[in-house]
Amino acid sequence: MKVKVNKDLCIGCGLCEGICPKVFKMNEENVAMVLVDTVPEEEMENVKEALECCPVSAIEFSE
Ligand code: F3S
Repeated sequence: MKVKVNKDLCIGCGLCEGICPKVFKMNEENVAMVLVDTVPEEEMENVKEALECCPVSAIEFSE
């Protein structure tokens, strides 16, 4: 499973990085970027939580 951040929606709240720093990282423009190509199995729960917590629904799964 892959995950992506819609950079046009992200408001830089940083919640995703706080919940799942192995997958999300804020870049110098204060937009979240995804660090991994494929989400590791053990991070799936954290990624789902980040997806649900993002206030602007900028995180989405993709195949
Ligand atoms: Fe951006 Fe949502 Fe993360 S606003 S910083 S993608 S929690």
